[in-house]
Amino acid sequence: METIAKKPFAKIVKNILDFRQNGTVLDVGTGDGQHALFLASQGFEVTILDTSDEKFKKIIELATTQGIQISSVVGDVLALHTLGKSFDIVVCTSVLHFLTADKIAMAIEQLKAVTHQNGINVVSAHTINNEGEVRPHFFAEGELKKYYEDWNILYEWEGLGGPFETKTGEVIQRHRTELIAENK
Ligand SMILES: C[S@@+](CC[C@H](N)C(=O)[O-])C[C@H]1O[C@@H](n2cnc3c(N)ncnc32)[C@H](O)[C@@H]1O
Repeated sequence: METIAKKPFAKIVKNILDFRQNGTVLDVGTGDGQHALFLASQGFEVTILDTSDEKFKKIIELATTQGIQISSVVGDVLALHTLGKSFDIVVCTSVLHFLTADKIAMAIEQLKAVTHQNGINVVSAHTINNEGEVRPHFFAEGELKKYYEDWNILYEWEGLGGPFETKTGEVIQRHRTELIAENK
């Protein structure tokens, strides 16, 4: 039977466990931090990043109540090099379709730049099949994978994700592209 997630939780994040069981994680565009909290609960050393620190306090409080630790940094997917460090796992889910088309290559270059050798990128975004949705950029079929031709593709999926319930209680599905790639 189909289940409806209470919060949008990208299944790709659980797929990380098929490939990595520990290490440092940068969650780029963490939002409400649900993926970061999950990964920290699994023993990963997680840093959350977003363009504003508005939600960091709540996420860190939730982590503390669960007895886990999370670090935070304000930043931009387009300027990750300014962090001056790299990570084993760089997660960027449901962020890239908020950038204009001319910024996508630069953003993915930045995700790759802060990933250790043999580290992985975990990326998902909405695709052109989402009729009625308005975003600056939708990915065409196979577009995301093209940016990772020089990496090992560990996992890829494109299709209709969800259903999940939004904060306003609406139950929706979105066409998505998902990829886990390894820096070889
Ligand atoms: C739809 S939420 C996704 C949250 C979470 N990653 C998820 O998968 O549920 C998009 C997040 O991306 C962040 N964001 C948008 N543009 C960004 C940028 N240029 N750099 C970093 N984060 C950005 C927003 O602030 C927001 O928290």
